[in-house]
Amino acid sequence: GAPQTRTPTGAETGAPTIANGQQGAYLTTANGARLRDTDHSLKAGPRGPVLLQDHHLREKITHFDHERIPERVVHARGAGAHGVFTAYGTAEAVTRAGFLKKGRETEVFVRFSTVLGSRGSADTVRDTRGFATKFYTDEGTFDLVGNNMPVFFIQDAIKFPDIIHAGKPHPDREIPQAQSAHDTFWDFVSLHTEAQHHTIWNMSDRGIPRSYRTMEGFGVHTFRLVNEAGETVLAKFHWKPKLGVHSLTWEEAQLLGGVDPDFHRRDLYDAIEAGAYPEWELGIQVFPDTPEETFAGIDLLDPTKIVPEELAEVQPIGRLVLNRTPTNFFAETEQVAFHLGHLPPGIDVTNDPLLQGRLFSYLDTQLTRLGGPNFPQIPINRPHAAVNDMLRDGFHQHAVHAGVAPYRPNSLDGGNPFPAGDAEHAVVDVPVTVAQAPKVRANPASFDDHYSQVRLFWLSMSPVEKEHLIRAYTFELGKCYHQAIKERQLRSLANIDPVLCEQVATGLGLPAPQPTVPLADVAPSPALSQVGREWPSD
Ligand code: HEM
Repeated sequence: GAPQTRTPTGAETGAPTIANGQQGAYLTTANGARLRDTDHSLKAGPRGPVLLQDHHLREKITHFDHERIPERVVHARGAGAHGVFTAYGTAEAVTRAGFLKKGRETEVFVRFSTVLGSRGSADTVRDTRGFATKFYTDEGTFDLVGNNMPVFFIQDAIKFPDIIHAGKPHPDREIPQAQSAHDTFWDFVSLHTEAQHHTIWNMSDRGIPRSYRTMEGFGVHTFRLVNEAGETVLAKFHWKPKLGVHSLTWEEAQLLGGVDPDFHRRDLYDAIEAGAYPEWELGIQVFPDTPEETFAGIDLLDPTKIVPEELAEVQPIGRLVLNRTPTNFFAETEQVAFHLGHLPPGIDVTNDPLLQGRLFSYLDTQLTRLGGPNFPQIPINRPHAAVNDMLRDGFHQHAVHAGVAPYRPNSLDGGNPFPAGDAEHAVVDVPVTVAQAPKVRANPASFDDHYSQVRLFWLSMSPVEKEHLIRAYTFELGKCYHQAIKERQLRSLANIDPVLCEQVATGLGLPAPQPTVPLADVAPSPALSQVGREWPSD
């Protein structure tokens, strides 16, 4: 047949997309009986009392009483959009993922978010932004669950509850709602100096994007790609916005937080509705898959480190266009469930200990958030590949499975009617060697350098970016009640750069401490804050 150039839509593969929640011309009960009056309850005479037998009243109020589901434990506030990803074919040599073959188009859903604020918090706060993409590929869904910053606070998922407890509002006062200006946050990041790299990105202009449309995105972790021949490389994913990277100034963010707390979601929807479709290019940095899993001396399993683009160019592999706003916020943006383990053949995980813990956490939390194990059947989560699993029953089961033998092999449902995937299309486990080593609760020594890349980031900044950064640290630390925490964070700043430390210390009215680790000898890196690529013409 003709070569396939487009991943089939859900409708074409028989998988329903968004179910129609409203049918027919008349108002009905949930069971389809037509209603005459939904404005008055049934009473014993106009002055009551209200009668218990009014089922419509009880159904209407009961359903309303159960309308809310828990907000996400992190990334509660978000905005989503549908779009299409078109592959350039440039990744074909390193991955066998079908959706990355030249010219392939794949439907996607993207959800942008802040991390710490509640569902109702303001958009323009200083925070990391989530950038989660669901690619509905015909080989199974691929979720690239990234952020707008290339590093993370911690190196081991076991610390995730701790950093989030420190970052969320204080347990006693529920203050602050969605900013990093508080004691527990600064207590954590000054006691866990591996967090200093992510923190400097937060304090930089990157911490307050102008728009979701002007954010970069990063897979953060190193992934393992596998090609047709079974050869592997290590890779990091990057999204580059067509509009370039732009931020709000602190003053703009403050004003917008009051005037239009929905600024980012409004900007996203308005742009799409106006036909100004946001675009990103997906790129990969590729590294040889060596037993050390390092590149240029950088440990690729350490999620607090980047690989500077001067050392490993970001190679463009495809383009994302967001071209459709959701019809229903709850059904799409709220119910979408991303998971790092949703990987098509050709893309695999590495042993990054942060990534490994994430593989557990998302499904676990979604079991509560979305009410049991059948949330993959919710329309926005349904794969566009055919699904034929042996998962059965459970709360909110919508599928009516046929057959009597949901196990393999069997001799009742025609033996093995559904063969396991052939080598061409199935996920094949990569035979990565696992170290023979004693069990240990520790990180590799290569995770111990907490400052050299932070200094690299500081040195890459222009004078105005440095000024913004100093003002951000001074403002946020100035909100701490505990002087000991400010002093401890100043000691970290001294290890990043004496000028940065001095300026912030002056702003706080405190003495500037001396560095406790030697300043790293690192070169400035202009590419860190630039998107210098020529955009491909249409
Ligand atoms: C949610 C990114 C680390 C647990 C999210 C979301 C993003 C994200 C983008 C929002 C997904 C959405 O829009 O629905 C990241 C990145 C990380 C990271 C880039 C580090 C590189 C972790 C770790 C854990 C974790 C270490 C736990 C051990 C969660 C949970 C949710 C979440 C529980 C809520 C999911 C839901 O309710 O559907 N994360 N995260 N994350 N993340 Fe992470």
